[in-house]
Amino acid sequence: MGRKPLVGISLKIYQNKIAEAVNYAQSISQLTNGETDLELFILPSMGVIYPVAQALHNRENVIGLGAQNIAPLANGALTGEFSIESLVDLQGHYVEIGHYERRTYFHEDDELINQKIQLTLKNQLVPLLCIGEAQQTTGAELKTVFKKILAADLANISPAQLATLIIAYEPYWAIGKAAAAKASYVAVAHTMIREALAELIGPTADNVRIIYGGSVSKDTAGSLVNNPNVDGVFVGRFGHDPQNFAEIVQIVKQVKLQAN
Ligand code: 13P
Repeated sequence: MGRKPLVGISLKIYQNKIAEAVNYAQSISQLTNGETDLELFILPSMGVIYPVAQALHNRENVIGLGAQNIAPLANGALTGEFSIESLVDLQGHYVEIGHYERRTYFHEDDELINQKIQLTLKNQLVPLLCIGEAQQTTGAELKTVFKKILAADLANISPAQLATLIIAYEPYWAIGKAAAAKASYVAVAHTMIREALAELIGPTADNVRIIYGGSVSKDTAGSLVNNPNVDGVFVGRFGHDPQNFAEIVQIVKQVKLQAN
């Protein structure tokens, strides 16, 4: 199917000072230098996105840049928000939308998420849509949950527009924990997501990359991606050490390239 494996990291609001964020970006860029079999991305803390963008561009690096959130409108009276216009200007590529923390702490609903996805696509950037269930759920029920979220989040968007979409499957109950969800559970969930997506958008669902996030570490990354429907990982805390992030990249590469 030719879906390129992906490994990305969101720094949330860790590493908020220019020097530490730039050092981190430079370190992972050095340690993964020249990686072209995988697609890599970093979503820095919003306040340091500009210096990180500069650091990445200076290295002519292959690590893509993205934002953890955008406003639902490109410009206007939305105090305190971050505009997609700034991200385009910084040559950013990915827009994370609908992370659990935004849906929960900032009460983002599916309508707002849908607006942000539409705005991202209109600007030719790549939406990284996060979805997940609140509690561990079994097969068929899980698919119903995903289909409902996806139908709402992707409403009024044509399948053709969604070819670049990335979905991050992040079960709420596995974020910020000591360990990731079990690989066997994740494999079922990703299959359910792709099936639900196929029912909504048809064959384009085969192009959509679905990556797993939620307490991913170098110890679990290999087994998590060892399934054809798991196209990579979305790393958080356990990638804060650049060496660990680089190791996760290597592990994912080994498993995914072996599989192809
Ligand atoms: P943690 O790996 O720190 O649980 O974060 C996962 C996440 O939410 C990535 O977006």
